[in-house]
Amino acid sequence: MSRKKLEIADLQKMKREGTPITMVTAYDAPTARLADEAGIDCVMVGDSLSNVVLGHRDTLPVGMEEMLHHTRAVRRGLQYALLIGDMPFLSYQVSREEAMRNAGRFLKEAGADAVKLEGGSPVVETVAALTRAGIPVVGHLGLTPQSAALLGGYRVQGTDAVSARKIIDDALALEQAGAVMLVLECVPRRLGRLVSGLLRIPVIGIGAGADCDGQVLVFHDLVGIAAGFSPRFVKRYAEVGKVMKTALEDYCHEVRERKFPAEEHSFQAGDDVFEKLEREFGQR
Ligand code: KIV
Repeated sequence: MSRKKLEIADLQKMKREGTPITMVTAYDAPTARLADEAGIDCVMVGDSLSNVVLGHRDTLPVGMEEMLHHTRAVRRGLQYALLIGDMPFLSYQVSREEAMRNAGRFLKEAGADAVKLEGGSPVVETVAALTRAGIPVVGHLGLTPQSAALLGGYRVQGTDAVSARKIIDDALALEQAGAVMLVLECVPRRLGRLVSGLLRIPVIGIGAGADCDGQVLVFHDLVGIAAGFSPRFVKRYAEVGKVMKTALEDYCHEVRERKFPAEEHSFQAGDDVFEKLEREFGQR
């Protein structure tokens, strides 16, 4: 079957038809290419770039230039998947104008198909303004890491009736404002099911249970490169980190034992060139 580049309308059709949507983060061209070749529908350059790749403690330090730099790299690795650029902390909260300029840069300078931003009622007007300007916006509710300090840390959200209702109201308001998709993070499965059932746009869960319209995971968690604590919602489908470490240890060993490079990794030139030189420099 011939494959075509996915558009937002295709993902919305998948929701209507009950076809689960697959999404993964990527931060560079080779991993984006792998995701594309594996048939992933949507690739997001998450602001998790900050902690997952750049070594920061959380998502707050990463800035626009770094996000654009990595989004361009991912764009070069993709042919088919929809590409979402994640708006970093303070790139959309300060003013509507800044939000517009920064969101536009993801599309104009980095080739993203859509941008994602975190939050409910405080960003609804911004989502509406971006949508009016022709910029597709993906919302993000539940555990929103940019405001983890206000949410009491990295913990499940929407576990009581008041906070669950707030997430539902925010989700409906984001849809009403024009959001084309919603990421729902770390909420009870029943809330994931409720929100997915209430919205017409696709709801992509991460720790929001199996009833969402799709799922997203961080690439490094999924393939098993991420170090340290793994949240309950992560499934490691491989232990690529271990394979990489063994390869690096084997390399160190072979270099130290002079087993690498072998003849097949070396370049040859004619005896006529080198025999004379080697005699001259006393190396024979
Ligand atoms: O930054 C990120 O990785 C995210 C997740 C929801 C995938 O926003």
